Amino acid sequence: MPLRLDFTNMMAGPLPGAAGITADQWALGAKRFTAAHEAVRARHASGTLGFIDLPHDQVALEATLAVAAQFRGTVTDVLLLGIGGSALGPLALRAALRPPHWNELDDARREGWPRLHVLDNVDPASIAAMLARLPLAHTLVLVVSKSGGTVETMAQYLIVREALEGAVGEARARERLVFVTDPEVGALRAVARAEGIVALDIPPNVGGRFSVLSPVGLLPAALIGIDVRGVLAGAAACAARCGSPELATNPAGVFAVLQWLADREHGAHVQALMPYADGLRDIAAWFVQLWAESLGKIRPDGTSVGPTPLPALGATDQHAQVQLFMEGPADKTVTFIAVAGREEQGSIPARHAERPELGYLGGHTLGRLLEIERQATAGALAARGRMNATITVPAVDAPSVGALFYLFELATAYAGELYEVNAFDQPGVELGKQFAYAMLGRPGSEAARAQWDALPSPDPRWQV
Ligand code: PA5
Repeated sequence: MPLRLDFTNMMAGPLPGAAGITADQWALGAKRFTAAHEAVRARHASGTLGFIDLPHDQVALEATLAVAAQFRGTVTDVLLLGIGGSALGPLALRAALRPPHWNELDDARREGWPRLHVLDNVDPASIAAMLARLPLAHTLVLVVSKSGGTVETMAQYLIVREALEGAVGEARARERLVFVTDPEVGALRAVARAEGIVALDIPPNVGGRFSVLSPVGLLPAALIGIDVRGVLAGAAACAARCGSPELATNPAGVFAVLQWLADREHGAHVQALMPYADGLRDIAAWFVQLWAESLGKIRPDGTSVGPTPLPALGATDQHAQVQLFMEGPADKTVTFIAVAGREEQGSIPARHAERPELGYLGGHTLGRLLEIERQATAGALAARGRMNATITVPAVDAPSVGALFYLFELATAYAGELYEVNAFDQPGVELGKQFAYAMLGRPGSEAARAQWDALPSPDPRWQV
């Protein structure tokens, strides 16, 4: 069963009152999608949307598998240094496609595959704790950065490399480093060349948040035994459907158009992604970066646009966020991710027949409970006129995860066209970076320093 998107509960008619997308609005969406599809096709043809090619990139896949094979059986731990797109994809892959609590399992239960640790921040407490705990002599360090110069990742690299050299010596440390970075530009590439450090390429036309199906995601995944061919096969199958110019047959197009219309026509600026599977929780976190950094932009006419993505987890967030979704402002959509085929999993024992709060559960399963709760939440939202949709995948497996990655990436490209923004840059994060460089004394940041110094200083009247 391929991935399925049910958007009945987004539409007027099924939803009560004035809620939901009307036939006229849907017709507008279909018209705008035709143009968006053509724009994405043209951008891809001009060579700028490299993420579209990744599911079929056999050369990158083989290069990645060769590096992974080189380290098979030689390390117990893999430490990934990266941030943003360089960390969120690997985390999502590990959570979805390795057993729960992977790093806590013993060697036998990991079938000899290494643990995977991800440092995606520069909190000194986390880094010190990681270095204190890791068996550095048996650890492979992946430094992942498209630009090859991101301040957080570079700081981590300098610290971890020193610790690694302290543990295994200079020459051996070089052999225990792999860089994943741009093939030409950036400090990491230069260091790799100068010191003969193994490096894999992130294609120049693939940006960080669109890189999970490149060696950024595939290398750490392959190192811990994930079926990366299956991930790419799932992405390729999704690509075959999502390239269609017919909106009605294109799930990525439908997702993009629904969210865009909900935002533009119904004020649904907040867009929650709520998988009902612990293994998919980190896909929601990955989606947040993709959707937010791609679509939160200033348009050519000067107006600011962009939906606010919100990660949630079913059933856990039924006890945290669903109250807000039901009765708070009607400014949200909720997209559930359901997993089929779990009806038989996790049987609940029949006990306490005498107690109404317990007796009815006996004979059901956790898989059924989770899906019933999802359906109940979707139905309750619909009954209140709250827009929601459901993506169903056949299982939490490699093809489904590949398909979800691809679906959301292509939907983001379509949504960029619908919102009339460039989904592939992030100018809004530049100023903060420049200010940080200026305060750290990076050469070339003098202009930013002057701008920083001209900012208002903290005013005692407004402090408490
Ligand atoms: O999507 C993006 O380009 C960014 O969010 C990056 O993923 C993030 O800034 C990390 O950049 P890099 O991979 O260059 O270190």
